[in-house]
Amino acid sequence: MASKIAIIGTGYVGLTTGACLAHLGHDVTCADVVPEKVEALNAGRIPILEAGLDELVAEGASAGRLRFVLGARTAVADAEFVFLCLPTPQGADGAADLSFIKDAAADIGPALQPQAVVINKSTVPVGSAGEVARKLARDDVHVVSNPEFLREGTAVADFLHPDRVVIGASDDTAAKRVAELYANLPGEVVLTDPASAETIKYASNAFLATKISFVNAMAAVCEEVGADVSDVVRGMGLDRRIGDRFLVPGPGWGGSCFPKDSHALVRIAENSGYQFGLLRQVIAVNEEQFGRVANKIARLVGGSVEGRRIAVWGLTFKAHTDDLRDSPSLNIINRLLEVGAVVRAYDPSHPDAADPRLEGIDVVDDPIAAAADAEVLVVLTEWPEFREVDLGALGGAMATRQVVDARNLLDRDALKDLGFTYDGIGRR
Ligand code: UDX
Repeated sequence: MASKIAIIGTGYVGLTTGACLAHLGHDVTCADVVPEKVEALNAGRIPILEAGLDELVAEGASAGRLRFVLGARTAVADAEFVFLCLPTPQGADGAADLSFIKDAAADIGPALQPQAVVINKSTVPVGSAGEVARKLARDDVHVVSNPEFLREGTAVADFLHPDRVVIGASDDTAAKRVAELYANLPGEVVLTDPASAETIKYASNAFLATKISFVNAMAAVCEEVGADVSDVVRGMGLDRRIGDRFLVPGPGWGGSCFPKDSHALVRIAENSGYQFGLLRQVIAVNEEQFGRVANKIARLVGGSVEGRRIAVWGLTFKAHTDDLRDSPSLNIINRLLEVGAVVRAYDPSHPDAADPRLEGIDVVDDPIAAAADAEVLVVLTEWPEFREVDLGALGGAMATRQVVDARNLLDRDALKDLGFTYDGIGRR
C-alpha cells in the first residue's frame, strides 16, 4: 500500500531513502534547508556521486511520486511517516551532536498529522528516540528507530537489497506500520525496542571497523614474519564462522561513519560506566596504520620525505564515491606535508582543487601527470581504473620507479618486471 512520506535531510542517506521509497511506490516529499540544493534536486541534478541514484530520482519525479521542498514543516504537512535523516557530527567530547535532529523535531512537532510516525534513520546515541519524542511534544505521535546500513557508493543497491531491516519501537502498531513500508524488499525484519535498534547500528559499524583493524594488524605481523596477508585472509575466510568480507587490508578505515560512530560508542559505553578498551584499541590500530603507510613512503626515499616529490593516486576515503570526509588518504598526505613533502595527486572523482581539505596538494586531472618526476607513487584509494594505467608510461614519467601500494591493487609482478621497487600492505 502506498504511503505518504516526508524525508527531512537530503544527504546521501535521506536522498537514497527518499528515491528508493518512491521507487517502491510511495509518495515522497524530501526537505532540505539549503535553497540551492532543493532547486538543483527539483531540476534533476544530484549533488553526490551515488550509483543509480540519478535514475531513481528522475523516475520518481516524472511519476509524480518524488519532490523536493524547502523546510521541514512544509514537507510533513500531510505525511503519515517522517524520516529524520540529518547529520549527527562528532562533538568535541567524541559523542554525537544531536542538535540538528532535536531542532528539526521541535520544528515539525506542531505541524505533524495526528498519529504520524517519526522515524530516526540517523545514527544516534542510545536513548535518542525518547529525546526526539520529548522535542516533538505530541502524545499521539510514535518515534521509531530504523537505522540505515547504506554504504556510500552502493547505497541504492544496499537499500533495495538489505541483509536486514531493523525496527525499534515501543509500540507494536507503529513498528508494523514501518515494517509495511519495506514489505516488498528482501532481508529479515528485526523488530525490537528503540534502545536495541540504536545499539545494533553502533555495534555493526564498530564490529566492521574491528575486522579491518584486525586485518591491518595481521598485515603488520605478516610483514615481520614473511607471510602474505592475501593468502592468510583467504585461508581464514574459508572458515564460514569468519568469512572473507571486510578483511581487505588497506591504509586504514575512514569515511563519514566508522570514525564518528566508533568514537561515539566508546563515549556511550564510558558514560554508562564501561571502559570499551577493545574499541579504543581498534581506533588506535587505525591511527597507527596511517603512520605505517607514511613511514613506508619515507623509507623508500632514505628516511625523510622533506622536499621529496610524492605522487598520490586516490583522495576519497574509498572508491566509487566523491566523499573526502575523514579520508585515510588525506590523513596520510597531511602527515607527509607536515614534514615538507611535495605532493601531487590524482583522483577519478575529480575533486574541486579549491576544496580547503586539499590545501597544500597539487591536484591534477591525470594519473600519469600526478606521477611526473615523483620519487614514490602511493596508491591510497582502490579505484579500479588505476589498474588500467600503462605501467611503462608510469615508469617513464617518474624520477624513481618506486610504489607504495596501500590497497594491494596494482600488478606487483608486472611492476617488478619493469624495475619498480614495490611495497604493499602485508606482503613481501
Ligand atoms: C559504512 C558501513 O559499511 C555502512 O553499513 C554504514 O551504514 C555506513 O558506514 P561507508 O562509510 O560507506 O559504509 O564505507 P565502507 O564501505 O564500510 O568502508 C569504510 C572504510 O573502510 C573505507 O575507508 C574503506 O576503504 C575501508 N575498508 C573497508 C577497508 O579498508 N577494508 C575493508 O575490507 C573494507
